Amino acid sequence: MVFASFFLMRCFTKPLQTLLSATEKIESGDLDSRVSGLKHEFGILAESFNDMAASLQGQMKQLQRNEQLATCGKIATTLVHEVRNPLAGIKVAMDVLADESGVSEEDQKILHRVVKEVNLIDSLLSNMLEFARPKPPQFINVNINDVIERSLRFTPGVITKEIRVEWDKTIQPPDIRIDPNQLNQVLLNLFINAGSAMSGGGTIFITVSWTVANVQLCVADSGPGIDQAVIDDIFTPFFTTKAKGSGLGLATCKSLINLHSGMITAANRPEGGAIFTITLPIAKDNQECK
Ligand SMILES: Nc1ncnc2c1ncn2[C@@H]1O[C@H](COP(=O)(O)OP(=O)(O)O)[C@@H](O)[C@H]1O
Ligand SMILES: [Mg+2]
Repeated sequence: MVFASFFLMRCFTKPLQTLLSATEKIESGDLDSRVSGLKHEFGILAESFNDMAASLQGQMKQLQRNEQLATCGKIATTLVHEVRNPLAGIKVAMDVLADESGVSEEDQKILHRVVKEVNLIDSLLSNMLEFARPKPPQFINVNINDVIERSLRFTPGVITKEIRVEWDKTIQPPDIRIDPNQLNQVLLNLFINAGSAMSGGGTIFITVSWTVANVQLCVADSGPGIDQAVIDDIFTPFFTTKAKGSGLGLATCKSLINLHSGMITAANRPEGGAIFTITLPIAKDNQECK
């Protein structure tokens, strides 16, 4: 009897102790803690415990993200007010100085570099604002080629002598109903990323195609491509592999494209380099015309 009851007690106490110690670990903040090695009813209990721990971990991450976003929103608003105007002043002053007749070629190069850096800061500020406080899109019917043209013209110092652009402008897709400023912001981010992936020079390939319902815009590059280990993370806010990256570029692209009921995906091209594909719905009027 004594032996049997001792054996029964051990059958219960061991799994209970395992569960208790896992609970204590979770309580102390170790959300990675999971229960394993329990059988029968205790196995089912352990499974429920593990599900609960995973869900707790997910909710904590979401909470942290919301806090990050709220902080990002506050920082973005302050930065835009405090930094953007002086930044615009610096840019104009640098542009004027670079055009002065007495400035040496060497100094001109430096001034252009400063303008490029200022433009990048400005684009970072726009990303922070767009991401933290997205404005509702102002939809109008536009030709996507006009938006591409404008984005290429204003890309902050990315389209340099070392970077070529391959794009067949003669292909004329149907109009899409979008906010051109927001698509411009998306394209700037893709061009800036392509430019920084090809620091030694290379080519940006732009292609536009369409179906009855959608226009598809691809931006590819001849850089090293996206590290396969991180390809699923690159649209996550604050994810970056760059020492000075913000990790907001692609997250902003995704949230802006979502506002357009579109899609953005990333992949690596078989011939090397990254490719980003944006799918946007064709303006209703045009769909009916087809
Ligand atoms: N064209 C590209 N080629 C290779 N990797 C890229 C490219 N575009 C984006 N990435 C990867 O995606 C990450 C996230 O990009 P992004 O959100 O724009 O943030 P950031 O540019 O600040 O790092 C980059 O750090 C990089 O690892
Ligand atoms: Mg970027």
